[in-house]
Amino acid sequence: MKKFIFDTYEEVCQAASELYVQQLKEKPGTVFGFATGSTPVGLYNELAKKYKAGEICFSKARSFNLDEYYPMKKDHPQSYDYFMRENLFDKINLSQFSLPSGEAPDPKAECKRYDEEIAKAGGIDLMLLGIGHNGHIGFNEPSVAYSMGTYLTKLTQSSIDANSRFFGPDEVQPTQALTMGIGEIFFSKKIILIITGEGKAPIAKKLFDGMIHTDVPASFVLLHPNVTVFMDKAAAGE
Ligand code: PGA
Repeated sequence: MKKFIFDTYEEVCQAASELYVQQLKEKPGTVFGFATGSTPVGLYNELAKKYKAGEICFSKARSFNLDEYYPMKKDHPQSYDYFMRENLFDKINLSQFSLPSGEAPDPKAECKRYDEEIAKAGGIDLMLLGIGHNGHIGFNEPSVAYSMGTYLTKLTQSSIDANSRFFGPDEVQPTQALTMGIGEIFFSKKIILIITGEGKAPIAKKLFDGMIHTDVPASFVLLHPNVTVFMDKAAAGE
């Protein structure tokens, strides 16, 4: 594991974006894994800036997102599909992107279809992860057993509360999601984990205490042979 700690969130995003430049130089047809939430927004802005400046090109790349609420209409402003288009896909030249569909009538069949699509693309080359306050990655919530592939999961109250800030008082907030499983995340060739903000300091402290916690899903990531962690000082507790 490589771990870098920067003074600010902006520096974290800048440094992480350099890995994307490098990755696309090495493999223009990279298969990316993308995440949603507040954490990656700054990185996505950096990637959009770099694309505009001609420093990066996604024309041969493709991507799969970690998760999507279920049920959720694609064009709903709180869908992760909408989030990705607004924060990244509308700003760069990546035309081949996929998310699990929150509109699928049969979630189990959708999960199987999504896994097959990822496998057909050759798996994920570079997976981007944030971490939940409860240690979740994607929507793999703390549990005693973890799924290999994509599955329908119930969100914990902690995740529902953390994401309630995005929903208006009259909007129904989903309590379930389709998420890539821990196995699928783990089989990515490279992983970038970004942890920022003082609110994440307690979970970061637990994550890096030298133990693998089975109730902290992000712990599994630390066992991966090619993981780069970017933190700001606030999350690192410095
Ligand atoms: P956040 O979410 O970036 O909005 O804190 C991270 C996550 O839940 O993975």
